Amino acid sequence: MRIAFAITGAGHLLRESVHLAEKLAGEHELTILLSGAAEEVLKMYGLYERVERLTGGKYRELATDTNQKFSYPITGRLSIGKYDLLIVTPATANTVSKIVYGIADTLVTNAVAQAGKGAVPVYMVPVDIHPGPIDTVLPSKLELSKCEGCDDCVAALVCEQGAIVAHEEIDLSKCIGCGLCRNSCPNDAISEGKVITIYMRDIDIENTRKLSSIDNIQIFEKPDDISDRF
Ligand SMILES: Cc1cc2nc3c(=O)[nH]c(=O)nc-3n(C[C@H](O)[C@H](O)[C@H](O)COP(=O)(O)O)c2cc1C
Repeated sequence: MRIAFAITGAGHLLRESVHLAEKLAGEHELTILLSGAAEEVLKMYGLYERVERLTGGKYRELATDTNQKFSYPITGRLSIGKYDLLIVTPATANTVSKIVYGIADTLVTNAVAQAGKGAVPVYMVPVDIHPGPIDTVLPSKLELSKCEGCDDCVAALVCEQGAIVAHEEIDLSKCIGCGLCRNSCPNDAISEGKVITIYMRDIDIENTRKLSSIDNIQIFEKPDDISDRF
């Protein structure tokens, strides 16, 4: 099968989505499409290189909002029958809301629009699916309760990206999730994968409901549920 595999900028279910891409890339031709936020968030969770490794060659490209400029020419392939399937996982609240209102101003929302025009089935994993609380995983975080304010912050010194603002926070726009800081801080003040509870907004749940009523789009609770279809 030839599959367009899109990732948007959600931390929730991101690792599971990368795992699905790795599994499918072994057996299918996979073109990876990343929203601008996905590029950033994948790096924060230390997952970007795993995605990059899956790409190379015709129909195995890594397309991004940056390299596709404003008209996203690669998505035209979806409207002319070059792909059997488009997968979008995880799908942020932002991307879902744009799709349900017909907006196509990013690489991923364009891909969904073109898939609709080309009658290509779309499998999506929207992160905001059920009302109420969900547990989600954070990227690296400086735990101030454990930071002892060392004169020479080893974590800041070891960070090649200059992402640690000593004794204050991690600048996630610079973080690549390499884990060097975590392993060097003598006070164990950098956490990774901390689980927090967040609450779904009614508007996002309502948008997911609208998404599920679009003809060529099928929604799934988690990437593993898509895996079961292969
Ligand atoms: C660490 C991190 C995790 C995020 N996780 C989520 C998430 O789980 N769900 C979500 O809707 N947005 C999440 N966001 C916010 C999106 O990245 C943001 O809304 C972005 O504009 C989405 O753009 P996109 O839909 O084009 O990918 C996260 C942002 C950061 C920095």
